[in-house]
Amino acid sequence: SVCHLFPQSMELPPRPTLFDFHGVSMTKYFTDNWENIQSFKARPDDILIATYPKAGTTWVSYILDLLYFGEADCRSSVPLQERVPFLEISEPSRPKGKDLADQLPTAPRLIKTHLPVQFVPKSFWEQRSRIVYVARNAKDSAVSYFHFGRMNRVLPEPGDWSCFLQNFMQGKVVFGSWYEHVNTWWDQKQTYSNLHYMFYEDLIEDSGQEISRLCSFLGLSPTAEQRELVQAKVTFDNMKQNKVTNFSTVPMMNQSVSPFMRKGRVGDWKNHFTVSQNEQFEEDFKNKMKNTALVFRNEI
Ligand code: PPS
Repeated sequence: SVCHLFPQSMELPPRPTLFDFHGVSMTKYFTDNWENIQSFKARPDDILIATYPKAGTTWVSYILDLLYFGEADCRSSVPLQERVPFLEISEPSRPKGKDLADQLPTAPRLIKTHLPVQFVPKSFWEQRSRIVYVARNAKDSAVSYFHFGRMNRVLPEPGDWSCFLQNFMQGKVVFGSWYEHVNTWWDQKQTYSNLHYMFYEDLIEDSGQEISRLCSFLGLSPTAEQRELVQAKVTFDNMKQNKVTNFSTVPMMNQSVSPFMRKGRVGDWKNHFTVSQNEQFEEDFKNKMKNTALVFRNEI
């Protein structure tokens, strides 16, 4: 069974509308608490897990949580979203992510964000906190985000797939443009050395290797046994079954519309993109990504 740190309210707020917020499409559920978020006091040992939505945030959060804290204490039955608070979330009748982060009893504190790099509270940079950025190829990100919008009332209605895809390409989705997000975070890595930039596709291909890279970035040296345990716990099937990681306790998500742990694969975009959508997407992609050294894999 799952034990919550905070009372759960069943009151469901309405779907929000998208608006321009300093040049990025956002909704009030991620901007309402803005001044408090911006004045967040980071600590040198905090670890920020930063992603564009649907890149594998939950996966990497659980890996880090297990690496640091294992499953020994009573916290291991608390839902992951309460152990790794979502910094900028501010929903009615729910604790604010910023407050959960402030109250985290752990060291290090693991904190999740989808903020574009220019919106990250400045104390993370000042304190030189470590940051793990996870990126996922644009096509699978778009598909995953579409299904997430269908089931999650925190997001605007996504409309039909072709409508959502156009919006995604134009950055008219919550947290703005995928293209700008992955690129500006990549640029940040060139000057901020405490940033580890990793890819969902690499995790799928060889989770053991990616966990090793994470460990060397974080200065962790788990035993072979601990490492195997982590690897076994974080498989898609296990995380889908696990109430701690599958978001089944979140009232805003209707998992009968689409489960949070949906497919967990590289290349599901092939089941969604038409030939002409794919051509248009590729053309636009080349244009938007022409000045970057970043390489994404749409299949493995
Ligand atoms: S969120 O809401 O932005 O925090 O979502 P996020 O966790 O970043 O991304 C959700 C997608 O990641 C997939 N996922 C996994 N894939 C493989 N293995 C594991 N263990 C795993 N855990 C989560 C999840 O299924 C979502 O992708 P899709 O393509 O929708 O299945």
